[in-house]
Amino acid sequence: MNTTENRQFSILILHGPNLNLLGTREPEVYGETTLEAINAKLRDYARVQGIELRILQSNHEGALIDAIHDAVGWADGIVINPGAYTHTSIALRDAIAGVGIPTVEVHLSNIHSREEFRHASVIAPVCVGQISGFGAESYILGLSALTALLASSSGVDVDFGASRRHD
Ligand code: DQA
Repeated sequence: MNTTENRQFSILILHGPNLNLLGTREPEVYGETTLEAINAKLRDYARVQGIELRILQSNHEGALIDAIHDAVGWADGIVINPGAYTHTSIALRDAIAGVGIPTVEVHLSNIHSREEFRHASVIAPVCVGQISGFGAESYILGLSALTALLASSSGVDVDFGASRRHD
């Protein structure tokens, strides 16, 4: 029997640069849902599922890195939309790899069907998975996939490092 099945997970949701503009930012690409509405949807889902959420949006790479470092000791997992840092930030990648907290990368748009410079993610190789292209729903899918993974590995000595590295 899994004695930890009723455990409440604590998850950090991180929104990267320019995501504070959602609702008015390129609505043909990102939709009209505001960040506040996405966060409300996440909080509703988390309440029903018994998940503790802390949410941060920042336009600053260092603030995102600090939040990842500060997640050590309380967060079981991280859901991150790194915005444009997805394609450029080795520092963000190193922070995720450095803390070893299972992390899911999410995107509103399908980065693989957009400009070529968006096809590559420097973050994805240190994440347990990536969800891209489902609009605001990407966040719920990411959170749900992450908590399912955490639940299935509770009490089991799973090496997330081994499962996520293919380089
Ligand atoms: C994004 C995709 C990125 O390429 C872009 O820079 C963003 C948003 C998305 O959610 O679709 O800021 O992460």
